[in-house]
Amino acid sequence: MKRLIFATNNKHKLGEVRAALKGRVEVVSLAEAGLAGEIPETADTLDGNALQKAEWVSARLPQAAGGPYDGVFADDTGLEVEALGGAPGVYSARYAGEHCSFDDNIDKLLRALDGIDNRRACFRTVICLLMNHQADGPLYFEGRVDGQILRERHSNGEGFGYDPVFMPDRFAVSFAEMPLEVKNKISHRGLAVKKLAEYL
Ligand code: IMP
Repeated sequence: MKRLIFATNNKHKLGEVRAALKGRVEVVSLAEAGLAGEIPETADTLDGNALQKAEWVSARLPQAAGGPYDGVFADDTGLEVEALGGAPGVYSARYAGEHCSFDDNIDKLLRALDGIDNRRACFRTVICLLMNHQADGPLYFEGRVDGQILRERHSNGEGFGYDPVFMPDRFAVSFAEMPLEVKNKISHRGLAVKKLAEYL
């Protein structure tokens, strides 16, 4: 079985991705690989950030043939709102400023869309895979879910981030009102991980 490092410090994502790749890939966390620290994400595209994170990890690992890992992958996600020209996009995590909370971001988003009827938006995730012995360079897998931004929060306490104000198409509830298994099946990250799993 292949052993790949997932370049994230987010335990929630690690569990989600491990479940999706079970039986195909052994997913190693950064901690298990002995890597600590804040991974930089300073690019201005999702692809660029995913690549930057994967390369940051890759540069810190033994890459020799027969090394303990077959490769590294990383993901980056953004919420793209049509009426805001695609914002917050790659800046979704710090839309309301450095070290802001999920609630600060949602408040800023709802203010920005105040009085605007076009609520169309999508979540997009890009996964970048760097295999140790891959001549073609990095591979990218993208997942996207379309929907709309609600006018106020709707939540059962599920999910995180912008989930309370995002309602995916063909559903009458927000991401934060769905059981996690349902969200994971249809979500941007779920779809991107599915493509990665099919490739591997
Ligand atoms: P990341 O690249 O996965 O860390 O995502 C960047 C930001 O996008 C997060 O800080 C969240 O604000 C938002 N985000 C990512 N995935 C989701 C999701 O599944 N639901 C809601 N917000 C998300």
